[in-house]
Amino acid sequence: MAVASFEVMEFGVTKYGEKAKKFILKGAGGVVLEVSDYGGKVVRLFTPDRDGAMKDVVVGFDDPSGWDNGDPYWGCIIGRYGNRIAAGKFTLNGVDYQLPALNNAPGGIGCNLHGGARGWDAYVWDSEPFIDADDVGVVFKRVSADGEEGFPGKVEVCVKYTLTKDNVWRVDYEAVPDKDTPINMTQHVYFNFKGESGGTIEDHIMTIAASKVTPTDAGQIPTGEIADVAGTAFDFRDGMRIGERINEPDPQLEIGKGYDHNWVLDEGVMAGGKGGLIKAGGLYCPLNGRSVEVWTTEPCLQVYTANWASYDQKAKGGEHLSFRCGVALETQHAPDSPNKPQWPTTIVKAGEKYSSTTEFRFGAK
Ligand code: BGC
Repeated sequence: MAVASFEVMEFGVTKYGEKAKKFILKGAGGVVLEVSDYGGKVVRLFTPDRDGAMKDVVVGFDDPSGWDNGDPYWGCIIGRYGNRIAAGKFTLNGVDYQLPALNNAPGGIGCNLHGGARGWDAYVWDSEPFIDADDVGVVFKRVSADGEEGFPGKVEVCVKYTLTKDNVWRVDYEAVPDKDTPINMTQHVYFNFKGESGGTIEDHIMTIAASKVTPTDAGQIPTGEIADVAGTAFDFRDGMRIGERINEPDPQLEIGKGYDHNWVLDEGVMAGGKGGLIKAGGLYCPLNGRSVEVWTTEPCLQVYTANWASYDQKAKGGEHLSFRCGVALETQHAPDSPNKPQWPTTIVKAGEKYSSTTEFRFGAK
């Protein structure tokens, strides 16, 4: 077993004029994670294939400019509210709030996505790398001001990335608001076990431990229905190639241009399950054997197969990214929960602590 270690270096200046750093975390189990204090962005993540060969398996860039020119939230921490809030509106304690509603799918009326115009992904956070026995990681902190992006309440937020000797990347989120406010955080890493410029992820086998999904309207807002996946292109319970049914003439797949949907995890509290740290799903690349299992304390999983743009950007190797060049498995509460009182709440009360944990367990077989 290797010894856990880290290095710190400059990463460049963001479009907001903030100086960013990069941390190279070398795990005792061999996985190497490069992350920035710029929104906790994952720059590189090396995992072994079935022969032990290491490859960078995430979409990322050499410096902040890659993110600053057109960004579907590659590898970022998402907050204050991950995913969509319909029309950017919600009512809390009798007060109507209007958030920026800048995201719009064709046929939609606009919505708030991933925290607004400048979400938590777009700030340089305070950061502290650490080594704790065999673990290595970074603790990121920031204070979101009362009224930031239209949300009520100041929030003190802390996200801890830990890389363990067992090749687990654990993300622990904590946030304490000083007024009642919606909080729904996630990590938006896009995996491609062939490498970011290795073409589509349609050949990856995905599992999702969910027998229900929340269908959306044309603007990608959940209708409120909770639908069975059995017999549909959304049934990943036994594992299925992502591309197997992605192009079927299913109205939901047409709205998302592929998978861009929220599954309700069977073991999670929204489905009446036990909650706690539960298995959400995973990915496996038959070509090289790389795999990840995703475990979470969240009740839902949004899966997004990078459908919405041509992603005509140069990645780290100088090669162009392409349609469906990555897949994001985003653990979270259901989209538009502030407007769905029948679903588990995302409102965190003043002075109470929001906490959430997700683990990405890497392997090869
Ligand atoms: C959403 C997609 C969106 C993507 C990038 C995902 O979490 O579900 O609809 O296009 O993030 O912003």
